[in-house]
Amino acid sequence: MDSILSSTTFQLRKSFLCCKHHLPQFSPFKISINAPKKSNNCAQKRQFCPPTIRIIASSQAAAPSAEAATSSYSIPSEMKAWTYSEYGGVEVLKLESNVAVPPLQADQVLIKVAAAALNPVDFKRRFGKFKATDSPLPTVPGYDVAGVVVKVGSEVKGFKEGDEVYGDISEKALDGPKQFGSLAEYTAVEEKLLALKPSNLDFAQAAGLPLAIETAYEGLEKSGFSEGKSILVLGGAGGVGSLVIQLAKQVFGASKVAATSSTSKLEFLKSLGADLAIDYTKDNFEDLPEKFDVVYDTVGQCDRAVKVVKEGGSVVVLTGAVTPPGFRFVVTSNGETLKKLNPYLESGKVKAVVDPKGPFGFDKVEEAFSYLETNRAVGKVVVYPIP
Ligand SMILES: NC(=O)c1ccc[n+]([C@@H]2O[C@H](COP(=O)([O-])OP(=O)(O)OC[C@H]3O[C@@H](n4cnc5c(N)ncnc54)[C@H](OP(=O)(O)O)[C@@H]3O)[C@@H](O)[C@H]2O)c1
Repeated sequence: MDSILSSTTFQLRKSFLCCKHHLPQFSPFKISINAPKKSNNCAQKRQFCPPTIRIIASSQAAAPSAEAATSSYSIPSEMKAWTYSEYGGVEVLKLESNVAVPPLQADQVLIKVAAAALNPVDFKRRFGKFKATDSPLPTVPGYDVAGVVVKVGSEVKGFKEGDEVYGDISEKALDGPKQFGSLAEYTAVEEKLLALKPSNLDFAQAAGLPLAIETAYEGLEKSGFSEGKSILVLGGAGGVGSLVIQLAKQVFGASKVAATSSTSKLEFLKSLGADLAIDYTKDNFEDLPEKFDVVYDTVGQCDRAVKVVKEGGSVVVLTGAVTPPGFRFVVTSNGETLKKLNPYLESGKVKAVVDPKGPFGFDKVEEAFSYLETNRAVGKVVVYPIP
């Protein structure tokens, strides 16, 4: 238990792929296919196309490029990465060995990925739930990363080659998340989204934190949570819930933390600092004799949550329908939050929780997703090592 589309070139070399699958719909992309001319018809005719497909985003010209930046590391032009070219279940995921290493913008660093973590947003996005605001397919999924800086853009001030960093690589989770995610050997990330990895955590532990801890913190802040207040966390054993419990207690100074889970996870909730662990398979939290200053709902139970909040209190809603006075927000990735929380992580007051079913090897990403999609994960589902 203790344990902007800123990327602009996506190259896939693959035999027997139908071009149609690689044509982003309504996208700003230029597409050039390195193939004999007559085969260019295959997108329309749905026939197999020759091996090399090159997709270049037209946004490439918009951002300042740091391609002139040099590195003392030997960086290949192609890498292994998990990709999908159509929306769907786990079966659309493919491990490719020749995806172009993303180009670096001036405000970015290139990270050699050591570990990545999965979040429900990864599979909701893969299912096409956010199609309207998603970056164009094909996609390299993954928001959370921990790894080593191997190249810095010309405007980067805060990091240097060799720094061990972690962060959520997409500033907006749903609105134009990066096309090149963290389930890859390399990923390019704006420095403002990153922090130095806490020195006491290994890469797997660090990779599990960014999106979940930033969500936990942003929700608590937005709810006006402060010292001496009480909180009920719905879904206390999950990636976000396990961190809401810890931050409420250790960072915000909660007077009382209550949380819900199924029977086998009650002790785990207590080990995180919950004063009251509620077994939702036996008890209804609405029947508690007390009300809370804040209810933090990671499950999608806002209609019930509003019944146990004090008058004037807040209900933070991460998913599902919102009933007043509940409010919903979508996390914004921010390296400053990680920097602020690093002392709590380094002192051990706040612990990284890697689900004991993992970490999952880089070739086991489908299994890792299938497990996360059961909605039973404890803490974070981590992918490590990434070669
Ligand atoms: N809006 C945002 O910015 C934002 C950010 C992050 C996450 N989210 C969303 O928030 C939700 C939670 O994310 P997550 O990463 O924490 O998910 P997660 O790690 O997959 O959550 C799994 C946990 O949920 C618990 N759970 C399931 N049903 C429950 C219930 N009825 N009552 C209490 N606990 C229950 C499970 O415990 P048991 O096995 O004991 O049931 C399990 O430990 C997802 O829908 C995600 O998309 C939104």
